Amino acid sequence: MADLDAVVHGAAEAATATGGLGSDDPAGIVENGAIAVVDGAVAAVGPTDEVTREYPPENAAHEVDASGRAVIPGYVDSHTHACFAGDRSDEFEAKLRGTTYGELLANGGGIHRTVRATRAAGDDELLGNLLDHLDVMLTHGTTTVEVKSGYGLDTETELRMLDVVDRADDRHPVDVIPTFMGAHAVPRDYEGSGDPVSDDDYVDRVVDEQLPAVADQGIAEFCDVFCDEGAFTVDQSRRVLRAGAECGLTPKVHAEELAHRGGAKLAAEVGAASADHLLHATDEDVAALVEAGVAPVLLPGTAFGLGADYADARAMVEAGAPVAVATDFNPNCHSQSMGFASALACVEMGLTPAEALVAGTRNGARALDRPDLGVVREGAPADLVVLDAPSHVHVPYSYGINRVATVLKDGRPVVG
Ligand code: NIG
Ligand code: FE
Repeated sequence: MADLDAVVHGAAEAATATGGLGSDDPAGIVENGAIAVVDGAVAAVGPTDEVTREYPPENAAHEVDASGRAVIPGYVDSHTHACFAGDRSDEFEAKLRGTTYGELLANGGGIHRTVRATRAAGDDELLGNLLDHLDVMLTHGTTTVEVKSGYGLDTETELRMLDVVDRADDRHPVDVIPTFMGAHAVPRDYEGSGDPVSDDDYVDRVVDEQLPAVADQGIAEFCDVFCDEGAFTVDQSRRVLRAGAECGLTPKVHAEELAHRGGAKLAAEVGAASADHLLHATDEDVAALVEAGVAPVLLPGTAFGLGADYADARAMVEAGAPVAVATDFNPNCHSQSMGFASALACVEMGLTPAEALVAGTRNGARALDRPDLGVVREGAPADLVVLDAPSHVHVPYSYGINRVATVLKDGRPVVG
């Protein structure tokens, strides 16, 4: 006997995120909408009178009266580095005084500093930190998040990070999708020996030691590389991504963030699930991504924090790209809020609120090869967010304010 888990009804709008970017109705609005949830999945979505006739709210385990409120899909935050230890708030101050991200990294700060803190932390500390971040994400409406390793840069710590990510996924309502990112930076010494390693030596270690161990461990789904100035070249990145693909890990690329180095074209060449950042991407890069079906994942919080120019989301939408927007939550971009990322996507990158909604939900899911997530449609997991506002427009409109009132994960209330 199927269980009627929940009926959300009377919503001023149900924004289903089923329309295409650039279409007349990307948000797929149903006015006076209702959603019925059976066995954790959406059984019906439509006008309240129709849905409640078939699924009476009083028969549901959870009745949610959404009068005067909007319902949207749970956010799918498709790019974060949320597993780490340590504090880099002083680097935020240094950047405000004019120090660049590249200078911090070159002087042993930035990623290197987080690597030292993460290697020194116990598993329980790392897990506790990650669970805290997931709590914040959930209260801001995120129901699925990708989390990368990459603050270990040695086999032992990279595996520990992925294990922590896997344990967090088991324990927390937010679904956590794990990515291996051993090629995040060249470590300053190898496994604490104090010996400097060359870039190519380190790439050898990622390919010959880390990747086989990650494949054996069987947790990671994706393999990401930081292909940029001060990080890895296109040739080094290609080696890592090809070796990762041989281990069954789908490629992703941090591309054209600090400078134009060819990472976007590499993402197209290797058939990556996504190319991320793209602050310096050219029209030709975008055309290559569209042609290869690679999702651009844009991270406006990072550009905001770096004081950099934003990626041209509008041009990417016009070119037909399935633009996704994510937080990039990490010690250099310390915001877990998809609402804040959505506001920046609208004000700074030219998306409409409806497009920002799709970019933060359905297209985020696409960038993670999870086409069933990030939409409200029959058969999809019932990951739903009820706002304390009458429309999805109020998310970016209320920048800096969390408008999330209630979150349902698989049809079960987990917030509100
Ligand atoms: O996506 N750019 C590389 N990686 C992260 C930053 C990581 C860090 O600074 O700790 C990013 O912005
Ligand atoms: Fe990143």
